[in-house]
Amino acid sequence: MLKIANHSHYHKQASRRLLEQLGDYALAADLLLTIEDQELEFCSDIDRQHTCFRHSFSSSRLQQRARQKNQALLKACNSKKRDIQSVLDLTAGWGKDSFILASHGQQLTMLEQNPLLHACLDYLLQVAQADSRDDVFQHLQLLRSNSLDYLQRAEGLCADCLYLDPMFPAHKSTARPGKDLQILQLLTTNLDIDELFRLALLKAGKRVVVKRPLHAPAINDNKPDLVYREKSIRFDVYLTPH
Ligand SMILES: C[S@@+](CC[C@H](N)C(=O)[O-])C[C@H]1O[C@@H](n2cnc3c(N)ncnc32)[C@H](O)[C@@H]1O
Repeated sequence: MLKIANHSHYHKQASRRLLEQLGDYALAADLLLTIEDQELEFCSDIDRQHTCFRHSFSSSRLQQRARQKNQALLKACNSKKRDIQSVLDLTAGWGKDSFILASHGQQLTMLEQNPLLHACLDYLLQVAQADSRDDVFQHLQLLRSNSLDYLQRAEGLCADCLYLDPMFPAHKSTARPGKDLQILQLLTTNLDIDELFRLALLKAGKRVVVKRPLHAPAINDNKPDLVYREKSIRFDVYLTPH
């Protein structure tokens, strides 16, 4: 069951909209969502541990992460040499990866199928944009859609780069994932990912990028053309000759 506490003072219109969107949202898990002016807090008991995650596009941690120039995400999606300007994020989630890419000048369209996540992300983008002079928010557009439907309906190529970050399967031998992912696993799921990847290869102007756990097999066992690695994840790049 979803409970909502509204502590927002300045962004009344945005918080009212969020309350309207989520007022009768049926959630199987128990979750307390607290609306603040700058951020949202998600709290739940997961495996008998009280787990809270706060999300905001003005958090100094995310801003700092976004500024890092040599990260693998940028190398995978943001190749200046190949003039990759537009990115379609097929799995928006918390919108962090899109925010990082947009901070480096790319034009991002984010798709999210889950109504709760979409509504929360929409709120966070609105309040961050209202409070900030940073033009990064001009580069971010959010749509609510199952990405498979979106790609099926789209005529021709959709963007230079199509980006996929499906939820990773829980792995018994690995450590508990971060709080953001624990909460995400409570709220949403993957839809049509294998099919989405197949169609993405036909709809990307220049490349498809897939985020994977470091040692996981490639998506659909499809060998990537390029791989960029970090400590626990990697980005598989598929060049599309369109
Ligand atoms: C692991 S999260 C992405 C995290 C994101 N990259 C970030 O930086 O916050 C995966 C998201 O994809 C969404 N998703 C899964 N299948 C989808 C589909 N077919 N269409 C749109 N969104 C989808 C899920 O609801 C979830 O929010």
